[in-house]
Amino acid sequence: MTTKTREPAIRVRAITKSYKDLHVLRGVDFDVAAGSIFALLGSNGAGKTTLVRILSTLLKANTGTATVHGFDVSSAPGDVRKSISLTGQFAAVDEVLTGRENLVLVAKLRHLKNPDAIADDMLARFSLTDAGNRRAATYSGGMRRRLDIAMSLVGNPPVVFLDEPTTGLDPQARTEVWQTVKQLAKDGTTILLTTQYLDEAEQLADRIAVLHKGTIIQNGTLAELKQLLPSAKVEYVEKQPTLEEVFLALVGDTSDTADEAAMSAGEESR
Ligand SMILES: Nc1ncnc2c1ncn2[C@@H]1O[C@H](COP(=O)(O)OP(=O)(O)OP(=O)(O)O)[C@@H](O)[C@H]1O
Ligand SMILES: [Mg+2]
Repeated sequence: MTTKTREPAIRVRAITKSYKDLHVLRGVDFDVAAGSIFALLGSNGAGKTTLVRILSTLLKANTGTATVHGFDVSSAPGDVRKSISLTGQFAAVDEVLTGRENLVLVAKLRHLKNPDAIADDMLARFSLTDAGNRRAATYSGGMRRRLDIAMSLVGNPPVVFLDEPTTGLDPQARTEVWQTVKQLAKDGTTILLTTQYLDEAEQLADRIAVLHKGTIIQNGTLAELKQLLPSAKVEYVEKQPTLEEVFLALVGDTSDTADEAAMSAGEESR
């Protein structure tokens, strides 16, 4: 890859985070190369969102360091925020406004020149031009998610966090979002995404990391992860393990996750 000699776009070192007695992150380390797509896999409650919130400066780690686009998340949070976008589970879309008005509003809030031109460009990039003058309330789930991602990308941040970008979407809408993500990476944007869908990681990611019991237990390319399990021989045809089989072999019985621990520890904010 051409980015080998460059600084990683995201560098995470020995990050820990606890909610009271619940030790969610117990020393997380990884790098994300600039311009690559990195998928963070983990069972429910593994700490994916917690990590994304730390990297996007919404939450402070207890110990450890992380840099994003060269800026330290704890000592230079303002610079980090200028370098990133975050699309979470809950869309920032204003339903009363049209898709176009939503985009113009974000461009104005970010003090960008030519907000109308930016909005039109984004609508085109996300195949929303025809729907641009309709209220977002009339959009399908896939359209709304594309608009949400488009809004987060106004201003072209170099690093993009997508926390479960396709949860709840139908296969067609997921494919549309995947195309968008692939195009972003092609244009040089660094993408860290979390997902429950293993086929999403297989489709998109240059590297895949598995977060389990507070640490990264595996980190590699899809081919590297697949080598962890021997391919099963069915008659004379070699069958490669799917990422799902590799994942389940790695994390084992999923009933033993941090969610269980949360119940016994008592959750703070739900
Ligand atoms: N504000 C909070 N207070 C207390 N516990 C929390 C808080 N936020 C998260 N947790 C707990 O920390 C653990 C990790 O949560 P987190 O949301 O990071 O997991 P996740 O990997 O994103 O899960 P999911 O796949 O369900 O989105 C869970 O057990 C969760 O209940
Ligand atoms: Mg989450």
